Amino acid sequence: MIPVAEPCLGEEELKNVVEAVKSGWISSKGKYIEEFEREFAKYCGVKYGVATANGTVALHLALKALGIGKNDEVILPTLTFVATANAVPYCNAKPVFVDSHPEYWCIDPEKIEEKISKNTKAIIVVHLYGHPCDMDWIMDIAEDKRLCVIEDCAEAHGAEYKGKKVGDFGDIACFSFYGNKIITTGEGGMCLTNNEELAEKMKLLRDHGMSKHRRYWHEVIGFNYRMTNLQAAIGVAQLKKLDKFIEKKRQIAKWYAEELKELEDKESIKLHPEMNWAKCVYWMYSILIENKAKISRDELIKILEEGRIETRPFFVPMHLLPIYDTREGLPIAEELAKNGVNLPSSVNLNFEDVRIICSIINDIVR
Ligand SMILES: Cc1ncc(COP(=O)(O)O)c(C=O)c1O
Repeated sequence: MIPVAEPCLGEEELKNVVEAVKSGWISSKGKYIEEFEREFAKYCGVKYGVATANGTVALHLALKALGIGKNDEVILPTLTFVATANAVPYCNAKPVFVDSHPEYWCIDPEKIEEKISKNTKAIIVVHLYGHPCDMDWIMDIAEDKRLCVIEDCAEAHGAEYKGKKVGDFGDIACFSFYGNKIITTGEGGMCLTNNEELAEKMKLLRDHGMSKHRRYWHEVIGFNYRMTNLQAAIGVAQLKKLDKFIEKKRQIAKWYAEELKELEDKESIKLHPEMNWAKCVYWMYSILIENKAKISRDELIKILEEGRIETRPFFVPMHLLPIYDTREGLPIAEELAKNGVNLPSSVNLNFEDVRIICSIINDIVR
């Protein structure tokens, strides 16, 4: 089976984990946590890192630190993984969904303003499948309307917007290090911010709201959202390989684009976009099966599965899920969700794997 994603772990990760185990520091204290927070923040060009148990709680922590609560509205793209949306009702706030940009699939800035109400407090943008959002436009809207911005960077470690890494644009950026992410700690996440006060607030909330100065004095109702030293030990080793992983992801994207070019020329498929202002990291190299193609996206997924090639359909847009059903039409996201498929994207792939996958696609899509 060629997997859609798999972690790439080696001796360096093993060595760090063994050292953490031998040291006895296997919970949420230990040298690797601080090192991972410091080095990952530095890599992204951001001042402070707050490591968390996973990317979902990173989003919750960010919204809490920004004071999002009852009667507040938070704007986010409808086409995302459900964790982005779920973090909003965790705070008793209301998610408001925005359609996708037809060219690069992330939130369409043009459609944000019409969703802003007097209750809107924040925008969460998602750098979907490794492609950055149009941050200048989004930050202009946020500044104009005095809204907070959270970047959900779970799928876009190291992606760049106009030469600057994602995570450095909004008030807080949230990352996931789940096993299928570009770098992983098994489960794990991190919040980044340039604002010292927000960093301190997130650290307080992460650790049961307990005062730094007085043990068992809980200033606010907090959580246990801490990362373990064992996870951070893996993260420190993974981070050293991140640039290499991104280079390989971009190489894989190039192979796919070359091998599938004819299908795109025939308008049977659309290849994964990269806008001229973007450096995409292709977390999941993705294509759209166009209406002109001989088969549907779902038929393609089934045939590839029979050939022992794993894929994923695009996320179901949030506004179509019964848990969020807003009874509105967001047509671009709906079309993307119907036609989009994530192809195998692991950094362990070689050219021969990509060639085999593409030859099947070329045969059946036409
Ligand atoms: C866009 C996005 N946000 C948030 C998450 C949640 O991260 P985690 O699985 O680490 O909780 C994920 C992926 O898992 C994601 O893809």
